[in-house]
Amino acid sequence: MLISSLLLMSGLALSTGACSPTDEPVKTEEPSPVPDPDPEPNPDPTPDPQPTGGRALVVYFSCTNTTKGVADRIVEASDAATWRIEPEVAYTSEDLNYNNSSSRANREQNDPSARPAIKGKCENLADYDVVFLGYPIWWGKAPKVIFTFLESHDFTGKTIVPFCTSHSSGIGSSDTDLHRLATGAEWKQGRRFGGNESKETIKNWIESMNLNFNNNTNAGVFDLSKGTNGNAPTVKLSSGYDMPILGLGTYSLHGATCVNSVKAALAAGFRKFDTAYIYGNEEEVGQGVRESGVPREEIFVATKLYPNQYSNPEAAIEECLRKLDIGYIDLMLLHHPGANDVKAYKAMEKYVAAGKIRSIGVSCYYVKEINEFLPKVNIKPVLVQNEVHPYYQDTEVMEHLHDLGIVVEAWYPLGGRGHQKELLSDPVLSEIAAKHNKSVVQVILRWHLQRGVVAIPGSSNPDHIRENISVFDFSLTDDEMARIAALDRNEKHDWY
Ligand SMILES: NC(=O)c1ccc[n+]([C@@H]2O[C@H](COP(=O)([O-])OP(=O)(O)OC[C@H]3O[C@@H](n4cnc5c(N)ncnc54)[C@H](OP(=O)(O)O)[C@@H]3O)[C@@H](O)[C@H]2O)c1
Ligand SMILES: Cc1cc2nc3c(=O)[nH]c(=O)nc-3n(C[C@H](O)[C@H](O)[C@H](O)COP(=O)(O)O)c2cc1C
Repeated sequence: MLISSLLLMSGLALSTGACSPTDEPVKTEEPSPVPDPDPEPNPDPTPDPQPTGGRALVVYFSCTNTTKGVADRIVEASDAATWRIEPEVAYTSEDLNYNNSSSRANREQNDPSARPAIKGKCENLADYDVVFLGYPIWWGKAPKVIFTFLESHDFTGKTIVPFCTSHSSGIGSSDTDLHRLATGAEWKQGRRFGGNESKETIKNWIESMNLNFNNNTNAGVFDLSKGTNGNAPTVKLSSGYDMPILGLGTYSLHGATCVNSVKAALAAGFRKFDTAYIYGNEEEVGQGVRESGVPREEIFVATKLYPNQYSNPEAAIEECLRKLDIGYIDLMLLHHPGANDVKAYKAMEKYVAAGKIRSIGVSCYYVKEINEFLPKVNIKPVLVQNEVHPYYQDTEVMEHLHDLGIVVEAWYPLGGRGHQKELLSDPVLSEIAAKHNKSVVQVILRWHLQRGVVAIPGSSNPDHIRENISVFDFSLTDDEMARIAALDRNEKHDWY
């Protein structure tokens, strides 16, 4: 897949310049970086190359990467996924010769029935509410491959936002001409951009349309009615993947204890695991998953790169894939802010593009850290894992992350080892637990979930593990939630 991307890029470079209707050179964007082929991610099992992410999709056709440059900026500004329309037969420079009246492009544009074949289909178009549709202007119109794309997909109920690039022409009727090809869609007015249009202009344009597609990830609202004891519900991450909202934390679990805890958790119904390079147990977590008999695709495994790995992230990711040995990683986080964290995150982004990591996020990033980090990366973190428990509720950070559409996950959800005596015997929590005939731990876990925070309690005790996933047969009242909120002491149990 990487090699074909590289060939594709060089093929496009060969045809650069052929699109101009005059002799004036056309400014094109630099192609986006493609995944570093050295070391090349292990291609097996073959990942699904379909787009994932958000509720908006940017689909575009581009011969000389001008439209691609604008599409990339829309992706950046809107956190959208992207899908490139590739013609079955690529356009050569001669095919695109503006001055040749019998060039392929010219013939197609003048033939009302021309529908140049395109490679593949955008299989999960159904996942997106808004489709930005980009193309270069060819003799005042959209290229016919756009017609092929529209006619071969179902746009019922979607919003389509056309955009184009050109040498100098406006969008004209090139967008309204397309309406009849997807009548079930709501069409927004299209817009023409220059190849070097600023990020800010593009951002303002998107905001002006009030498309409202990023607010519905519901990062902080879980549907707990879908859970039963032994079966935790999921939350949809902004990558498009579903993640269980309760998982097993594996920090401090090692060797056979770790393998057995993972298996006990899977038997109890857990489908999510949290490990990290620094825990030294990725191999055991992978072993537990492989030996459990539960299908791999039903299990969600998260791991983390440690700051001492950020300077050589590709090697670290490869090591992690090898140690886990479960094909792909569901979620990879940066464990802490640190030198080269953006570099490491960008390496993870490349592995997302290659299908070896499905979702990426960070840990121990608070308001300042996340605000500084977001503008430097291309894929918004789907999740932030931070210390959260009744004595350290971190409400401001949680609300900020939820507003950004980022899921919040609690580490030390039970206060952390060595801090539990006081928390697990807290009088308010004990009283609430007695009232519901549940344990204090169950009340704390239920509180996390009702607050919209994912929890990953650590345990090597099968009885505790079963107890921890049995929190779906009761609910805390508003008054009980308020009483637990009042327990906050801003008391952090670890320094990071
Ligand atoms: N990103 C970060 O920087 C960071 C930092 C710390 C932790 N983490 C992650 O967060 C996870 C959770 O943190 P943690 O494991 O350190 O702390 P924790 O989940 O707050 O507490 C774990 C402790 O709770 C006990 N426990 C679990 N269930 C219980 C129950 N039902 N009744 C009584 N005791 C129970 C466990 O003992 P038993 O084994 O006896 O059940 C263990 O001693 C970690 O495993 C790790 O994956 C991440
Ligand atoms: C066959 C052909 C016809 C074109 N017709 C026009 C045109 O009518 N008006 C215009 O301003 N630019 C025209 N152009 C220039 C392209 O619209 C412009 O270079 C565009 O940004 C290329 O986008 P791309 O790099 O994504 O393929 C034409 C280019 C080609 C190849």
